[in-house]
Amino acid sequence: MISIKTQVGIIGAGPSGMVLANWLKKYGIDAVIIELRSREYVEGRVRAGLVEQNTKDILKELGLDARMKKEGIVHDGVYLSFDEERIHIPFGELTGGRTITIYGQQEITKDLTDAWLDGGETLHFETKATKIIDFDTKSPKIHFEKDGEEGILECDFVAACDGFHGIGRKTLPKKSFQSYDITYPFSWLGILANVAPSTDELIYAYHENGFALHSLRSETVSRLYVQVDNDESVDNWSDDRIWSELSKRLANLGWELKEGPIFEKSITPMRSHMIDSLRSGRLLLAGDAAHIVPPTGGKGMNLAIADVKHMVDAFVAYYKTNSETLLDTYTNDALRRIWRAQDFSNFMTKLFHKQDAHGSFTYRLQKAKFDYLKVSRAYKTTIAENYVGLPFESFKN
Ligand code: APR
Ligand code: PHB
Repeated sequence: MISIKTQVGIIGAGPSGMVLANWLKKYGIDAVIIELRSREYVEGRVRAGLVEQNTKDILKELGLDARMKKEGIVHDGVYLSFDEERIHIPFGELTGGRTITIYGQQEITKDLTDAWLDGGETLHFETKATKIIDFDTKSPKIHFEKDGEEGILECDFVAACDGFHGIGRKTLPKKSFQSYDITYPFSWLGILANVAPSTDELIYAYHENGFALHSLRSETVSRLYVQVDNDESVDNWSDDRIWSELSKRLANLGWELKEGPIFEKSITPMRSHMIDSLRSGRLLLAGDAAHIVPPTGGKGMNLAIADVKHMVDAFVAYYKTNSETLLDTYTNDALRRIWRAQDFSNFMTKLFHKQDAHGSFTYRLQKAKFDYLKVSRAYKTTIAENYVGLPFESFKN
C-alpha cells in the first residue's frame, strides 16, 4: 500500500488541476496530482483553443505565459455571419482594450505540466482515483490505484478537477445539489487541416445547411467545425464533403475558403450541464467536473480556470489567515460567473445553429437578432464583453 500526504490532493491534470497546482505552489501550499491518463494522452488531446482575457492575466501572473505570448495569436475581434452576410465585432473598441488569444488548450496544459515537473513537484500519471472518503472530517483521503498497487493520498482538502466523467461529482452527497441539463439535437464535426487560415479572426456562421466555425491554430494550421446530426459518423464525411459544406456555410461575397489536407476529424456532442453546489465539506469541484457548456463561445477552459481562481483564494485565506469564509462562499462566488457563461454559450449556440426549418418562426427570431446586431452598438458590446470574458470584479455580489 502506497501512502502519501499533502495539503491539497488534486484529482486530474487537465487545465483546472494544473493551474490550481501551480498557483498553490506560488503561495507555498503543497499539492499532489493524480491523473488517470498518460502524459502523452493528456498533452495530445485535441480541445478548443480560445483563451480569454482573464485566463491570459492569470497565466501571466503565474509567470507561465512565455510560450503563449510567443506562439499564441491575439485577436481583437470576431466575425459573425448569417445567411452569407458577415459583420465584425471589434473587441478592444467595445470592451476597453480586452482581447482573446488563440492558443491550443493542450499547449497550456503542457506548459503548466512542464513547469510543475521541472520544479520537482509530484504528478502521478496513469493513476486512478477510485474513492474519496472522510471529506466531512479534517483529514479527507483519496484512494487510488497505480501499476496494480493500491494507495492512499491523505490531505487537508480534495480538489476534484477530474472532468465530466470523474469521481468528484459522483462523490458529492446526492441531496447536496441539484443538476440542470440541456442536450442539443446537434453535434460538431471538428477538423484540423494543414492549410493557412482563410481569415484573420474567427468566423461563426449560421447557414440554412447548419452552423460552421472557422478557427485556427497557427499560420499553417486551420481548425474548422460544421454542425452535424447527433447520430452522424465521421465515416460519412469525406474530406471533399467537409470542404464543400464549409465553403457553402462560411460563404461571403468575394471571400474564398482555402482547402488543405485534413489530419484530424472528430465529432463532439453539444450539451449544457450544471450542478448548483461545488463543495461538500473538504471536497471542492472545479471545471468540467461541475459544468459543461456547449463550445459556441469557447468558454469551457476559461470557466474552469475561473473556478480555480476562487478555489485558490479560498485555500490561501484558509492557510494564511485560518479563515474559512471563502471556502463557505466558494460555490456562490463561482456560480455567478458559471451561470453567466452558461447563458452566453446557450445564446451563441441558439443564434448560430440551425434548429428548425429555414424560414420557420425560430429562424426568423434568429435573423431578427442578427439584424439588430448589425445596427446596435449596445448589442455588439454585449457579445464582445461576454466573449472576451467579464472581469472578476463584475461578479462581486
Ligand atoms: N482519477 C484520476 N484522474 C481522473 C479521473 C480519476 N478517477 N477521472 C478523470 N480524471 C482526469 C482525466 O483523465 C482528465 O485528464 O481528470 C482530467 C480532467 O481534465 P479535463 O477534462 O480537461 O477537465 P478540466 O481540467 O476541468 O478542464 C476544463 O473545459 O470545455 C472544457 O475542453 C475544456 O477540457 C477543458 C475543460
Ligand atoms: C477552437 O479554436 O477550437 C474553438 C474556438 C472557438 C470556439 C470553439 C472552439 O467557440
